[in-house]
Amino acid sequence: MTTLAGAGPAAIARACALLREGALVAFPTETVYGLGADAASPTAVRRIFAAKGRPLDHPVIVHVADAAGARGWARAFPPAAQALADAFWPGPLTLILRRAAHVDAVVTGGQDSVGLRVPSHAVAQALLRAFGRGIAAPSANRFGHVSPTLASHVDDDLGDAVALILDGGACDVGIESTIVSLAGDVPELLRPGSITAAHLERVLGHAVRGASADAPRASGTLPAHYAPRTPANLVRRDVLQAELRQLCERDERIAVLARGPRPDLPFDGTWIRAAEEAAAYAHCLYEHLRRLDAANADVILIEDVPDGPEWLAIRDRLARATHGEADDRD
Ligand code: TXA
Ligand code: MG
Repeated sequence: MTTLAGAGPAAIARACALLREGALVAFPTETVYGLGADAASPTAVRRIFAAKGRPLDHPVIVHVADAAGARGWARAFPPAAQALADAFWPGPLTLILRRAAHVDAVVTGGQDSVGLRVPSHAVAQALLRAFGRGIAAPSANRFGHVSPTLASHVDDDLGDAVALILDGGACDVGIESTIVSLAGDVPELLRPGSITAAHLERVLGHAVRGASADAPRASGTLPAHYAPRTPANLVRRDVLQAELRQLCERDERIAVLARGPRPDLPFDGTWIRAAEEAAAYAHCLYEHLRRLDAANADVILIEDVPDGPEWLAIRDRLARATHGEADDRD
């Protein structure tokens, strides 16, 4: 049975005991909740895939307490990795490096690289330090669903498939870590996050390119990832009211994620007013998407967000949430 625990020393000790037995433990990070297993146990890591309903060829990130811990999982730790680790770890950055020989194929999805991350959340840090080894952890949601930013989201998605959920409250950042691959000749941004390309470039001293066609596969980079179950459309701010009026006339049940107040229309559906500022918008985004999905509407309308670089990761997640083709959902 799942236990929702706080995150004090007794809960951390219990979590470590369960991880050592090969069980799954969900834990908070500063980005989203992770579904953790002992990264050195292929049997335990395989349980993650079963619990999520995720195909076995998708790699999972290994979480470690610090950069020294990360070194043991990589064949080499190049100067660029050291520079990014110094600048951003602990924090919401995942580095893809060439894997060390001992890293099992179930962790790497059969690829020659491994994803490494040092989370900053105090509970994640306490867990990693107490466990003393790497913890493999994807986001703690069902495959293709919205990532969890509250312990209750993990419980809603995974229930009894997880032995223990450490409850560390709402995740600060609210969207998944920035992923940079250093496994090839030049650094590549595989998934945008709250650490932007400009942040990375300032540290590396040169431009970081977006993912190329032959870049290592990241499941979050498939078109329809992070999707609510209700069909969702992205709508420009200047046509939102007109669209809403049309849907109201057709008696459609509508749920809206907007950045302004509820308009004066004969519309009694769900209206969520999101923040005007990017970090605050991201912090609540997945909670909002879950609430919109739970509203049992016929359609979700999401108001477009600004163009600036600080909105890139949000635009990326919104584009995936509104892609609409469940078939290629990851
Ligand atoms: O913020 C985060 O990164 C959260 C927290 C829990 O740390 N984790 C997370 O994991 O978002 P997940 O599995 O939901 O997304 C990680 C992405 C996946 O798309 C996976 O394919 C990619 O990272 N990934 C992991 N290892 C990789 C590798 N060796 N090469 C390429 N992509 C990799
Ligand atoms: Mg995920």
